[in-house]
Amino acid sequence: MSDHPYGIETLCLHAGQLPDPVTGSRAAPIYQTTSYVFDSADHAASLFNLQTFGNVYSRISNPTVAMLEERIAALENGRASLCVASGMAAQLTAIEAILSPGDHIVASSLLYGGTYSQFDVTLRRRGIETTFVDPDEPANFRRAMRENTRLVYGETLGNPKINVLDIEPPLGPGLWDVDLGPGFYGTYDPWGRFIYASLRFDF
Ligand SMILES: Cc1ncc(COP(=O)(O)O)c(C=O)c1O
Repeated sequence: MSDHPYGIETLCLHAGQLPDPVTGSRAAPIYQTTSYVFDSADHAASLFNLQTFGNVYSRISNPTVAMLEERIAALENGRASLCVASGMAAQLTAIEAILSPGDHIVASSLLYGGTYSQFDVTLRRRGIETTFVDPDEPANFRRAMRENTRLVYGETLGNPKINVLDIEPPLGPGLWDVDLGPGFYGTYDPWGRFIYASLRFDF
């Protein structure tokens, strides 16, 4: 797409994709391939050495996933995005990118069950401790923070109670001023960096 500032409706439908030059297909094809053909051994070598941009293996990159990643980045006005196959994988990938053993999370106690277990069992086993707080009293988040707290986590619409998280007060204005659309849940860290994973975002 050109540098023209498109509206959200157009970006939702078309960002990250050009009509197929050979077939004229408007919709993006689904590339059901694991592997890619190389022009030559030298071409393969330069791809594997990250000297040439291109696809090597679909677990690492795939044109269909790349289109979705570009679309999400365009919708969020971001530089890039990373898509994975499930919400649980998205959470773990995002969390592992910013937390290390010895770090601490303050999380809402009203979370999707799989997320609660991921924090309470999986992350704890990896040396990352979570304090769960009642999100209906926003001051609880600040009270539970420690020197080593690296992430404050909540679901804007809690699962399963559908409680609405009051995202303004826990850390103060400015850190929470992110517009969350339906279908998204957000994660934050104490410096106001915002990460999100999208769930059931169908293209
Ligand atoms: C709020 C919330 N977070 C995380 C997940 C996990 O997503 P997935 O099942 O794609 O791993 C779900 C799934 O229902 C969810 O509702």
